[in-house]
Amino acid sequence: MYTIHFKFDQKGQEPKTLNNLAGGESILEIALENGIEIHHNCGMVAACSTCHIYLEEGDAFVPDISDREEDFIDRARNPRINSRLGCQCVLDDSQSGMLTVTVPDQSLIHGD
Ligand code: FES
Repeated sequence: MYTIHFKFDQKGQEPKTLNNLAGGESILEIALENGIEIHHNCGMVAACSTCHIYLEEGDAFVPDISDREEDFIDRARNPRINSRLGCQCVLDDSQSGMLTVTVPDQSLIHGD
């Protein structure tokens, strides 16, 4: 099982920790199921950059970044070394652990 700590760049949004999460779902899906709004304009197929997140800790639990994902991250607002697309970060269901994710300010993201 996984624990994910979500932090938010958006002013006034309190951090949120989700526990007992099963693998096999993406960070984006888990966020949405738990009331954390992250844009996902392309329908989660790595064809936009609106689900951009910063994966601060836990990259060992998700697949390596693909060339396609990297291309779309380049178009995201303020990409950093730990940028990922939330829809592509599917938690490995053979492991368990803890991740920390920072969600960029969603009010500044207007689609792709
Ligand atoms: S929802 Fe479009 S790339 Fe993730």
